[in-house]
Amino acid sequence: MKADEVQKVGVIGAGIMGSGIIEVLARSGQDVVFVEVSDDKVGSGRGAVEKSTRRAVDKGKLSAEDRDGILERITGGTDIEAVADVDLVIEAATEDLDIKTELFAKLDTLTREDIVLATNTSSLPIAELAAETSRPDKVVGMHFFNPPPVLKLLEVVRGLQTSDETIEFARAYGERIGKTTVLTKDRAGFIVNFLLVPYLNSAVQMLDDGFASKEDIDTAVQLGLAHPMGPLTLLDLIGLDTALAISGVLYDEFKDPIYAAPTLMKRMVAAGYLGRKSGRGFYDYSGGGK
Ligand code: CAA
Repeated sequence: MKADEVQKVGVIGAGIMGSGIIEVLARSGQDVVFVEVSDDKVGSGRGAVEKSTRRAVDKGKLSAEDRDGILERITGGTDIEAVADVDLVIEAATEDLDIKTELFAKLDTLTREDIVLATNTSSLPIAELAAETSRPDKVVGMHFFNPPPVLKLLEVVRGLQTSDETIEFARAYGERIGKTTVLTKDRAGFIVNFLLVPYLNSAVQMLDDGFASKEDIDTAVQLGLAHPMGPLTLLDLIGLDTALAISGVLYDEFKDPIYAAPTLMKRMVAAGYLGRKSGRGFYDYSGGGK
């Protein structure tokens, strides 16, 4: 199948990344069927797209009619069999290898054998997910960045068995949905997280050491390096649980202490201080934002 022939896409997971991806796909005119593990999560995934598109209408960036069209193209539910007739699957479930391997085995039996099964994993091996399927040549990484409707990058990750045709498909599909693609090998962290994780973890360590206040660390990076946000604000956006999982994968792969999750991050995750999604991370979001 060619990238411009895709009409209906299955998205697995509608958390921060999944809901953003769903919005990107529906905005580009495709039908999207998404799957979550509970009715609550189906509701919050849909709610995230409703909120984001409502904001766009309020700002005059999207017409109310186009918003209605976007929302009509999205169907969500808890039954994974709903992806049986899709032209592409993008998996954006929790960053956990066991969950993802189980999903890929299931997706392989449920979907048409000619379609590509893509994963939005930030760090897990594409080869291990491909090994669960009878079509390892059609398994590829398509890694979006948070928030997906805003950030233009798509990392296309070539697993050991991914075919040239699948890479070509993923790159063309990325362009079709308005992204700029880069190609990377199947190595933990790919390009961006390999560079990002040591930086974020160092910022947490600086804070824990009392080197500077959280506000000053963030201000220093924002104004001194012209980043849109400082590292601690960014960690709150990514989710500390996700950042912890990615650090663990990078550390396991390279055994280099620069990837080891800092103690403060581990304790914050244990305490439920996950960032924006839980209402508190380095900053307090209980009133709706920093
Ligand atoms: N969904 C949709 N649109 C959103 C959005 C969301 N969640 N958040 C912000 N936007 C839109 C706003 O509507 C606004 O649109 P317009 O310009 O059309 O009005 C635009 O983005 C700018 O937003 P704001 O004015 O509210 O705020 P801002 O200028 O501070 O931008 C930001 C917010 C886009 C998040 C920006 O701060 C930013 O780019 N931060 C860095 C994010 C980053 O580094 N992400 C990568 C994380 S790493 C990752 O994702 C990989 C991984 O595996 C962990």
